[in-house]
Amino acid sequence: MRIDIITIFPDYFDGPFSHSIIKRAQENKLVEIFIQDLRPHSTNKQKSVDDYQFGGGSGMVMNIQPIDNCISKLKSERNYDEIIYLTPDSPTLTQNTCNSLSSSKNLILLCGHYKGIDQRVRDHLITKEISIGDYVLTGGELAAAVLTDTIVRLIPGVLSDETSALSDSFQDNLLSHPIYTRPSEYKGWKVPEVLLSGNSKLIDKWREEKSIELTKNIRPDLLK
Ligand code: ADE
Repeated sequence: MRIDIITIFPDYFDGPFSHSIIKRAQENKLVEIFIQDLRPHSTNKQKSVDDYQFGGGSGMVMNIQPIDNCISKLKSERNYDEIIYLTPDSPTLTQNTCNSLSSSKNLILLCGHYKGIDQRVRDHLITKEISIGDYVLTGGELAAAVLTDTIVRLIPGVLSDETSALSDSFQDNLLSHPIYTRPSEYKGWKVPEVLLSGNSKLIDKWREEKSIELTKNIRPDLLK
């Protein structure tokens, strides 16, 4: 898979993709992540990428021209499955969306800033819009990093034990059951007896019951 992230803060991504699983996925050529600096695509002298809002109002709006140039250049080089704009005023990201995006070949993620982007970008250039939650970030970069992380870990071969993605919270619309490791007792706090029983049927039953109980208590909306 190839992911192109269009941003006005290319340095932002020095951190999130250079550790642990996502770093190894790139080293193993399971994913290529390219950070595309938007500013050089601006055709005006100042290399500006934003302007005042038509009709008045506070906040700057990102111009269509640099975004169109950048996306057009990428599209002239390969076909993209989706061109995604990260913005809070759009459908919220779910594990289902991550699952389906994880089989893409090429993706573009566009990070917004200021007040937002010219609506014509959304109407004519973007194929999918995603919010990572009902709160507002200072920009789309963190959202793009979150989306990339959730997709990349689902690419076959990225997680060493593929079943560990299948048993994630949300994969079957349930939160995952509690987990424990040694010691079996710490400061008098005991691990549930059943997990030490060696009876895999009983353990599976306990885990399922706990998943359902937790989901009912914490996220009843998932059971609807
Ligand atoms: N940009 C700012 N806030 C965001 C959010 N919640 N999701 C996606 N992109 C954003």
